[in-house]
Amino acid sequence: MLKVSNLNIYYDHIHAVKDLSIEVEEGKIVCLIGANGAGKTTTLQSISGLLPIRSGEITFKDKSIIKSKPHLITHMGIAQVPEGRRIFTNLSVLDNLKLGSYAIKDSLQNKEKEIKRIYERFPILKERSNQRAGTLSGGEQQMLAIGRALMSRPKLLLLDEPSMGLSPIYVETIFEVIEDLIHEGVTILLVEQNANIALSISDYAYVLETGRIVKSGTSEDLMNDPDVKVAYLGA
Ligand SMILES: Nc1ncnc2c1ncn2[C@@H]1O[C@H](COP(=O)(O)OP(=O)(O)O)[C@@H](O)[C@H]1O
Ligand SMILES: [Mg+2]
Repeated sequence: MLKVSNLNIYYDHIHAVKDLSIEVEEGKIVCLIGANGAGKTTTLQSISGLLPIRSGEITFKDKSIIKSKPHLITHMGIAQVPEGRRIFTNLSVLDNLKLGSYAIKDSLQNKEKEIKRIYERFPILKERSNQRAGTLSGGEQQMLAIGRALMSRPKLLLLDEPSMGLSPIYVETIFEVIEDLIHEGVTILLVEQNANIALSISDYAYVLETGRIVKSGTSEDLMNDPDVKVAYLGA
């Protein structure tokens, strides 16, 4: 579904992503694990069209997207849940959701249907619909960020560190939601520093170190890999 080939990204002279190649098969959860500063967010931002790439190719359903504007990439079916959630704290929960489909040409009716679906998935967001989003707890804000991304009815969801800063109970809830989404036909590319949880939920994994993929394999294989155990699983 998604194919990234020999991607290179620079911030001025900093070579942040080096010859990175990854693939995400439809219907799977693929994760990219790596320490802080490894280049995970940079990779996701480039897929979403938010960062210029120096060289390489990114195709979605066999179509190059490297020259597409971010809103068109959303339109094609890719949505991102950004690191740190980035919700609009001064807007209501409902208005945050509405912004998720702002760039999407769809009938008002369909958009309202989508809001209903999201409220069914996250009843707490319905309860807090008219509340300022900044008053939500961290876990609720993460639900809102996921809900907002779902408003564009993505085929591929890019999740950037959804577990960051959340209490264990919310981490569990969020990862249950991620697993549900797979059953509803959403493919997932997950970025995490929390390798334990990422490997336990995903089908395939890539390990990123200072901008370079150093290992890849089924998540099960990587979970049993001695190097991965020592470096990422606290063994
Ligand atoms: N806006 C930026 N300007 C300059 N350097 C950046 C910027 N964003 C990230 N970097 C650098 O790029 C590298 C990768 O960062 P990032 O993709 O945020 O890593 P991760 O998400 O894995 O923590 C790091 O060395 C970081 O310092
Ligand atoms: Mg990051």
